[in-house]
Amino acid sequence: MAKPMVVVTRAVPREALELLAAHATVDANGADVGYTPEELVSHARDADAMVSLLTDRIDDSVISQCPKLKVVANVAVGYDNIDVAAAARRGVAVTNTPGVLTDATADFAWALLLAVARNVVPADRYVRDRRFREWMMMEFHGAELAGRTLGIAGFGRIGAAVARRGRGFGMHVIYANSRRVAQALEEETGAHFVDKETLLASSDVLSLHVPLTAATRHYLSDAEFALMKASAFVINTARGPVIDEAALARALTSGAIRGAGIDVFEREPAVDPALLAAPNTVLAPHIGSATTETRTKMALMAAENVIAVLAGRTPVNPVTLKE
Ligand code: GLV
Repeated sequence: MAKPMVVVTRAVPREALELLAAHATVDANGADVGYTPEELVSHARDADAMVSLLTDRIDDSVISQCPKLKVVANVAVGYDNIDVAAAARRGVAVTNTPGVLTDATADFAWALLLAVARNVVPADRYVRDRRFREWMMMEFHGAELAGRTLGIAGFGRIGAAVARRGRGFGMHVIYANSRRVAQALEEETGAHFVDKETLLASSDVLSLHVPLTAATRHYLSDAEFALMKASAFVINTARGPVIDEAALARALTSGAIRGAGIDVFEREPAVDPALLAAPNTVLAPHIGSATTETRTKMALMAAENVIAVLAGRTPVNPVTLKE
């Protein structure tokens, strides 16, 4: 019997390609450059499975042009790039990579927070510009975190991991979520459940960890920034459209909030020029999960999901329709 065919839409760690190759014929894009929609369909037209990346838009049109497809294994925990309802209608399983990127992403939320709260980027530039002539008492004053309130929007795995780190930094942790989590998790993380309005008004740092859905699009916009403390920092390692990017730039420029650490953008890879020009802002190119260990585990997890479906088993990490 001919081996099944798997298309991999972008460069991924070698370990995952080797695992797939033991079970299937692999058509892998060797470049870390995404396919155009036309290229995607031309590679996937006869594929039994697809390993997709968050840069691929897998909509009904793409799925309908790939009649043999049984599974789309997204190498990401988020899956807003896939029309899950269309896939379900056409009998195509969708999988994601939860769990393996929790610590890497939580670490990166903290990297952004510490960078913006302690002026790491301007300080680095200052030294490189050879302006460091003498130790100074009154320059580069940042914000102290111990004793302040860390607000977490979205208390899934990553939100909880950010809370644990917050506790380690001596912060008081509050969270808002679509539902209150189990008491044991609240006790372990030290996080207190609040409503969104309290979260906005009380947080000295607000870190976003909600998935992108119709309900969370523009979770933060002008009205929400107006409720926040002028001393607050906003950190986004979730998905760009969770923040109204133009409103964020306005809030930073007007002083409605003090700073932001932003890893994801509303129209990635484009960044609103007003945000590029905003003060006290640290920007990164969507690298929350980018450690060698985590990216390897993510790709391996996607490969395992593909292999399970091709063998007629239930995938390990199926995505189910929530809305
Ligand atoms: C990355 O953004 C992911 O969803 O895994």
